[in-house]
This record gives sequence, structure tokens and C-alpha cells, in this order.
Amino acid sequence: MKDNFFSNLKRSDFGEDFIWGTSTAAFQIEGSPFADGKKASIWDEFSHKKGKIYKGQNADIACNFYNRYTEDLQLMKSMNIKHFRFSLSWSRILPDGTGKINQAGLDFYDRLIDQCLALGITPWVTLYHWDLPQKLEEKGGWTNREIINWFSEYVKVCVSRFGDRVKNWMVLNEPLVFLGAGHFLGIHAPGRRGIKNFIPAMHHASLCQAIGGRILRDFDQNLNIGTTFSCSYIEAFRDREKDQKAANRVDCLVNRLFLELSLGYGYPFEELAFLKRVEKFYKAKDDDLLKFEFDFIGIQNYTREIVKNAWWIPYLQAMNVKAEKRNLQTTEMGWEIYPDGLFHLLKKYDAYPGVKNILVTENGAAFPDQVINGQVKDEERKQYLQQYIAATLKAKKQGVNVNGYFVWSFTDNFEWAEGYHPRFGLVYIDYERQQRIIKNSGLWYRDFLKTSETTKYTKHHSISFKS
Ligand code: FCB
Repeated sequence: MKDNFFSNLKRSDFGEDFIWGTSTAAFQIEGSPFADGKKASIWDEFSHKKGKIYKGQNADIACNFYNRYTEDLQLMKSMNIKHFRFSLSWSRILPDGTGKINQAGLDFYDRLIDQCLALGITPWVTLYHWDLPQKLEEKGGWTNREIINWFSEYVKVCVSRFGDRVKNWMVLNEPLVFLGAGHFLGIHAPGRRGIKNFIPAMHHASLCQAIGGRILRDFDQNLNIGTTFSCSYIEAFRDREKDQKAANRVDCLVNRLFLELSLGYGYPFEELAFLKRVEKFYKAKDDDLLKFEFDFIGIQNYTREIVKNAWWIPYLQAMNVKAEKRNLQTTEMGWEIYPDGLFHLLKKYDAYPGVKNILVTENGAAFPDQVINGQVKDEERKQYLQQYIAATLKAKKQGVNVNGYFVWSFTDNFEWAEGYHPRFGLVYIDYERQQRIIKNSGLWYRDFLKTSETTKYTKHHSISFKS
């Protein structure tokens, strides 16, 4: 019954203008870290340090997208995917972070963008998906307020070169993750730890989020400008005040902080007193600098978190109760599958008066795929996607202004500190042979995307749209 319901999902239920795509990021797919003038990013550096990445893997080759983008885009087109979200590698374009522009780097993205357009695929470009030029890290990276100038320079170079053809832009990918994992826990690049790194990096990234938006808008009023946030639906472990307060603190940090700064709400000092340390880094005009009216927000959701009070955890006094401890089936990442969480989050973000448009810019799941007789029968991923897409539809039907959905990810790729073992792709990659196999979930997405296109041109359908 259930499966039937989800497999009956129709693209046309979402309306003709709904955007369907897939997402990815430069570092996770491109490879070729030093080709044609590119220099190291913090992830090139970090992934070569001992003990940082699962089994000592690195992304030197990854999906070799730098050389194989033409074939990959053709495959994408064959799967009826018309919107492609990818990021630009800052150190391919400005190898030292600032100063001398690397023409060959710009040329690569020119070719990629032109190829997308030639195939009828709309590019959605993320400016920063975590791969800061290493040269800038050596000057303090996100902890140095100078990054406002470095980032502005980079954004200007990108938009002046690609802004004629790229109409959809996202400034940052998931600030909380690169700040939390990379500047507090030290488990992602650049491996910085502690509140002394987190606070200034958080403030400067929040400023760049808005400043980047303004630079894009100044370049062309008609660009569609967004930024993306990681978000998880948060619930209290037990129905008691302490856990509820803990859940509220986590919700505030995970789901609200970066959006609310852009909306002009300021820092939530009441819920998260430790953020007061930011005052040291605050300049007179920062209240205004932090604000920007994004055309859309990209929300990226994979799971929900169950939170309980934990007095011994610094700053948050809260901890997650892992899904495995709750005896639940999880994805390869240990994440609970909870489609209703996406529904609740969509409602939550839609309720902000300043949020104009919401796109789900990432959603997907890693499962241990196996190639058998040339096929990948990834039933679990297919069901995961169907259920999350159905949750999106439920929200849309209730009036939520959600207008797009991008699967993470088109192909399997380098999953940061987890290396290659979590496979998120609709397309399987045999890394040794660099072969691509469309998984069953990818075949399902292809057919799902085809549905309304075929009907679109039938007489009946076009009449019903006009009326
Ligand atoms: C998100 C990241 C993306 C990918 C997915 C699984 O947090 O934006 O790069 O790693 O998770």
C-alpha cells in the first residue's frame, strides 16, 4: 500500500514551474587539485593529513569531473535532469585566494556552464562549498575579518565572468557545518578547534553571506540569489522541561542562527549566551552588514535529531540521542530516516515573513550499494527519495512556498571526512574504472521527471494548464 502510494507520485502534482535537479560540490567530484594553475584548498591540505579521512582516502581523483564533465552532463540530460547545482572552486579561479586570476580556472567553469546550457540544463552555482584557498587559511581564514575583502573580490570575479549566463546563485553552503565541523570540532578542514575559532569565523561567514548577496544584486538586479542552510528537525528526548529547553537551544543554533542574522534579527543571545563572545568582533555597522534580502533560501535536510539535556557538554548543555541508540534503521551515515521532519522544517521556514521562496537544495541518502549483474538495486534510496519528495508535496499542498527540490547527489562522490564509503549518488561510480552506472533510484527519478513532460505536450494537459 505504502509503496504504491509513493510510487504514484507525479511530477505534475508539483506544478509546471517546480524545479527538479541534483546537487554537488567542486571538491567532492572534480579531482585535479593542481591542474592548469589551481593551488591547494584547505580540503586538499586537510585530506592529506594523517588520520583525518576514512582509510586515508583523498579527493585527488574523486569522480574526475574536471575531465569528464561532458559525459556526466550528457548522462544527466539522459535522465531528464534539467537543473544542476554545483560549486566553484575558489582556488581554481584565484589560486592564492586574491590577486592573480587564473584564466584556465575561469575557462573550465565557462566550458562547464556553456555545456550545461547547450544541453538545456540550468546551472545553479554555489560560490562557497567549503574549499577555502589554503593561502587564505594561512592568513587566518574565516577567523580573520579581512576575509570580507577576500570573499568580495572572489564573488566579483565570478559574477562578472559568469553572471551573463548563470542566473541562479547561492552564496554559502551550510555555514553551520563548515563552522561547527571545521572551526569548532576540528573534524573537517581546516581542522580548527574551540570556541575561539568558531566565534570569529561564524561572525565573518555571516557577514560574507550577506555581503556576497549584495555584490550579486549590485551586478544584476535580476539574478535569483539565495544561500543554503543545513537543517534538522529537532525534538526533545523526553517530555520534560530540561530536554525541551535543550532542544530549543540546538534548534536555535542548527536551524535559526544564520537565517535570522540575514533577516536582521541579530544574534540569539537569550537562548545561546555563549554567542555573546561575538561582541569582541563586532563593528559599528555590522547590524546592517549582516542583513540581506535573499530571493530564496536553500534548505538541506537529511534527518531529524532527538536532543536531551546534558549539563556536561560545553556551551550547548545538550546532546543528540543517536538513532542507533533508539533502535532505528538508519542510513549509512547513521542518520534516522524521518521524512516528516522535512515537512515540519518547510512549515517552519515558510512562517518567517522575510523568507520569500524555499528550495530544497539538498536531500538524499547513503546506503551500501552493490553492483550485481551491472545493476544497482537501491530500493532503500528510492523509497527514501519518494518519501521525502512526498513530504515536500504535503507542505506545498498546505500552502508552503516551496518551489524546488535537488537530490544530493548526481553521482557518488567524496563524502568529506567519510571518504568514499557513503554513496549518495543516483549514479554509481566504480572509482577504479571511473565507470558510471545509473542506480535504480536514478532510473526512478528519470522516469518521474519524464511523466509530466510527456503529458505536458498532450492536448488535454496543455488545456488544463491554460484554464
Ligand atoms: C551536506 C553537504 C554535502 C554532502 C551532504 C551529504 O551537509 O552540503 O556536501 O556532504 O551533506
